[in-house]
Amino acid sequence: MKVLVCGGAGYIGAHMCKLLAAQGHEPVVFDNLSTGHREFVRWGPLEIGDLLDPVRLDEVFTRHRFDLVIHFAGLIAAGESVEKPELYYRNNVTGSLNLLDAMQRHGADRIVFSSSAAVYGTPARQPIREEDAIAPINPYGQNKADIEVRLREYAGSRGLNSVSLRYFNAAGADAAGEIGEWHEPETHLIPNILNAALKGSGQAVKVFGTDYPTPDGSCVRDYIHIEDLCSAHLAAARHLEQHRGALAFNLGNGAGFSVLEVLRAAEDVTGTRIAYEIAPRRPGDPPMLVADASRARQELGWQPRYTEIARILETAWRWHQRNQH
Ligand code: UFG
Repeated sequence: MKVLVCGGAGYIGAHMCKLLAAQGHEPVVFDNLSTGHREFVRWGPLEIGDLLDPVRLDEVFTRHRFDLVIHFAGLIAAGESVEKPELYYRNNVTGSLNLLDAMQRHGADRIVFSSSAAVYGTPARQPIREEDAIAPINPYGQNKADIEVRLREYAGSRGLNSVSLRYFNAAGADAAGEIGEWHEPETHLIPNILNAALKGSGQAVKVFGTDYPTPDGSCVRDYIHIEDLCSAHLAAARHLEQHRGALAFNLGNGAGFSVLEVLRAAEDVTGTRIAYEIAPRRPGDPPMLVADASRARQELGWQPRYTEIARILETAWRWHQRNQH
């Protein structure tokens, strides 16, 4: 299968390319390198380009004939999206619509779309199921919800078949330690904790809020290992070979860990005391997001392999120790 991997130079996209190549597929990376890393493009050609440039998209779709598109390209910081909503709408909504238009111009009819738990906003119940209310509380989550709606419309009117995967918190690194989580600037909890562990007492992790309605007051998230996340995309691709329409699945472990619990687990894994300080809440953060991913297990036949936060942290720590950015 020849696969267009939009955002393939990023953290999740690069892990996806590695898995695709390992399974005998041909990933072609489309990335503007604004946040992705050229060094992460190792499993297929790199087509530098921007989703905001339809002419460039046409060139790439003319050069290659794709069996599948996987769309990871987007801005990902919920907090930043509150401050810069126009930036997020342009990149995440207009960019995605350009991609869907290009697919239709070139006869590509299957896409796996990176959606997010952020579409649920502050859900009324946990764990969250796919049929629960879509009610984002930040522009980032709204962008993802908007594209899911378009995908459902296009399934009916344009014959475009899609699976939207609502990621909870992607974490960890590839078991071989070749690639890992690397964002600049880094905003994510686990890399920030591991960077603090590497730098020693000089750098305290900020805990954004300890006054949430959660057991210890800090936010609870469902951390899913990057390799499990990627294997779900392959399962979704197989599903698209046999089913038409537009479907959505949660991808998570079904277990929640608070920021303070992740900190303590990281202290055990790294054997380091990690300094932290309590900081104000970060705008756009819901108190708790835990997935019910039984639909993905049942309908996609997906089975996550990493269920313990310590095992996830170990893979991240191995990569972080070798790659200090
Ligand atoms: N946090 C801290 N200190 C930090 C960084 C994060 O306390 O230095 C807290 C956040 O406030 C949040 C939790 O740790 O409560 C996790 O934060 P991340 O930034 O690691 O992840 P998010 O939950 O904000 O977002 C991630 C992805 C999004 C996706 C979301 C879905 O980045 O793209 O998961 O759950 F939408």
